[in-house]
Order: sequence, then C-alpha cells, then structure tokens
Amino acid sequence: MTWRATVLTLFPEMFPGPLGVSLAGRALASGLWGLEARDIRDSATDRHRSVDDTPAGGGPGMVLRADVLAAAIDAVDAAADRPRLVMSPRGRPLTQSRVAELAAGPGPLIVCGRFEGIDQRVIDARGLEEVSIGDYVLSGGEIAAMALIDACVRLLPGVMGKLESSTDESFSAGLLEYPQYTRPQTFEGRPIPEVLLSGDHGKVAAWRLGEAEALTEARRPDLWAARPAQTIRAKGESQKTPKNKTDG
Ligand code: ADE
Repeated sequence: MTWRATVLTLFPEMFPGPLGVSLAGRALASGLWGLEARDIRDSATDRHRSVDDTPAGGGPGMVLRADVLAAAIDAVDAAADRPRLVMSPRGRPLTQSRVAELAAGPGPLIVCGRFEGIDQRVIDARGLEEVSIGDYVLSGGEIAAMALIDACVRLLPGVMGKLESSTDESFSAGLLEYPQYTRPQTFEGRPIPEVLLSGDHGKVAAWRLGEAEALTEARRPDLWAARPAQTIRAKGESQKTPKNKTDG
C-alpha cells in the first residue's frame, strides 16, 4: 500500500500547495505517495453548514464542533488503523524520530485546527495525538501539517537519492549540521577553510565533527545535553571555541 496523508481542513484549496513542487511534488506526481485533502465542512449537517460555535463558558473566538469533526474523521477510509493527528501549538513537539515512525507506517490522518481550538471531546473520543511544530502560533494547522508531511515524504523509499539521505545522519546523531562551502574559493575576502581543500578525508571528517559539536553546544544546549553517549567528546581532545556563542 502506498503511503498516504489524509488532511481534514476547512481550506482544502491550500493543498498540495508547496507539497506539489520540488522533491515532494515530483514524488507525488510519480505516485510514490498520496495526498487527500478533505473539507471538514462537508460533514456539517445543518442548513448553514456550520462547523464551529462559541466556547462553552465564554471567551473570544469560535470552537470547532465535536460532532462535525468526528463525522469527518469517521468518513475517512481506514481511519481507525492509521495514526490520527491534530496539529496544535499545545501538542508534543514534533521530532525526527516521530517523523521516521510516521513515514514507516501507512500514513497519517491529520486534522488542521482553526479558530480558538477544537472541542476536547472529539480529541478524546477519537484518540487524536496533538502535535506541535514549534513554540510559535500559526493561524491554522495547515502549514504545520505541510511541514510534517514534507518531513515524512522525504524519508519514503525512492523519494530521495542516496546522496541527499546521508545528510540525515548528522541530525539523527543529535548534532546540527556542519557548515558547507563551494566555489568560489574566496568570497568577499573570505576563503574556504583550508582543511576542506587538503584532500585528507580523515582531517575533513574530524573538522566537520568539531564544527557540528561547537554549533550544537552554542545554539542548542538541549540537544547538546541529550546527545548519545558515543558522541560525547573524549576528555582532553582538542576543542574549538564555538564561533556562535552569541546566538542565544
Ligand atoms: N497550529 C497553530 N500553531 C501551530 C504550531 N506551532 N504547531 C502545530 N500546529 C499549529
């Protein structure tokens, strides 16, 4: 069975959007994965096709109705056998390991929130997993869903060449990527680091690891503290001062 994402949204016209071009788009066109965007409003039952209402207990904005969203979920084929996600800033932060799990399965059903939120009872009753793509608030879940789908699609067999996929390993090892350079050899007075032109693969690899470690320590103390034991530098090994100490 082909990996497939089913998106429940009030704005199906947003899809495929950026997923229709470049790597994901070419793979979509060649049938390596499938995308289905369904309009939640099609599951409304009243004359006005209303999908939302005012929050119980008062407060601003509108809340997506449990009955309408549940009907939309239940209308999706094999919904019960697929991961059921809802994009939300209050979800668990998305990680590369969760992305890899989702890419290895049949493909998720993804609910995109809008308004002030979704009635909690449908989240509970349909076992929706709340997923966040970062600590900032988007105006809806669609762009977050696209980010999640893109991250999964590039891991599907046949989507990416071997060359590109090798770059994942550095992130999977819990380090940020080392800096890259290409021609010209000097740009505005800045030369390419000499070691990269040395032809010594061992030295190049050691330099890259040092850069990746320094960058990770400076920018992502959370990743640095959580890095796997085997990547922890041996004591007394030479270490560069991170150039990016001021990066916050
Ligand atoms: N919807 C709005 N903001 C979001 C975020 N940061 N992550 C996932 N879904 C969202």
